[in-house]
Amino acid sequence: MPASGAKAAEALAAAIDSFTAAGIETPRLDAEVLLAELAGVDRAALIADREQTLEAPVARAFSEAVRRRLRREPVAYILGKKGFRHIELAVDRRVLIPRPETEMLVDLALEAGPASVLEVGTGSGAIALAVADELPGCRVTATDVSDGAIEVAVANAARLGLGERVDFILGSLPPGSADFDLILANLPYVPDSDGLPPEVGGWEPEGALFGGPDGTSVISAVLEGLRDRQISAAVIGLEIGQGQGERVSALLHGAGWPETEVRLDLAGIDRVVIGRGSRPAG
Ligand SMILES: C[S@@+](CC[C@H](N)C(=O)[O-])C[C@H]1O[C@@H](n2cnc3c(N)ncnc32)[C@H](O)[C@@H]1O
Repeated sequence: MPASGAKAAEALAAAIDSFTAAGIETPRLDAEVLLAELAGVDRAALIADREQTLEAPVARAFSEAVRRRLRREPVAYILGKKGFRHIELAVDRRVLIPRPETEMLVDLALEAGPASVLEVGTGSGAIALAVADELPGCRVTATDVSDGAIEVAVANAARLGLGERVDFILGSLPPGSADFDLILANLPYVPDSDGLPPEVGGWEPEGALFGGPDGTSVISAVLEGLRDRQISAAVIGLEIGQGQGERVSALLHGAGWPETEVRLDLAGIDRVVIGRGSRPAG
């Protein structure tokens, strides 16, 4: 713990040293983000005023945050929040921490300009709430099989003032047949045998991560469910993992979307598969 009256620079240096020794990938960034948040300043201000003396409660809170981070708890869980597009979401261990690459699904929504969206597997509500935030005329329905996730998403919607525009459903899919303009899903897609960094494998919910032997089992089951329930959409966008583009495109063909496109993320990895051209249900 930083000594009483410690300067920000000393507390940061000690945290960075211990994070580095523990093998944490971004030691400086993590230390600065944690201390800035706990001191109630932005990171640039903290860096500009590194000689400031930390107040005792801030020093204590930082030392606790460092202790948690050394156990490889993700920064977002320690702070209890994560930014996504233009909104900030409360997050805890019941939900996956939203990733920047998932913003590609929100980009797809902006391109498609839908009046109605179904999001399957909403977690914290990131995609559903960002769509509601950025497309004010759009009605959003969001599902999740995890009751903890639905609780987090409903609370996020209320806090963001978006509760009136998003219907959350506990379960995989809405109950009856329906026709949406757009379906979006970032379902679990990590192959069961893949090793994960300690921040992910040790902390994020297993049910949000693993998707069977090749990672596509949950996607496949949800697509089957959509077909069986006659839930359709002109356009569907699915987040996928590395090397899954071809397999998920084939699944989309089989589920009734004849035209498919695979989009790569900034790292050049297959990240989103889009299906178009389905016939409405019924
Ligand atoms: C990878 S997380 C994505 C969460 C959020 N949409 C995001 O992008 O940050 C997948 C979510 O899908 C949910 N899930 C898993 N299987 C599901 C299924 N068969 N139907 C609906 N949701 C499911 C999990 O509980 C989890 O919250």
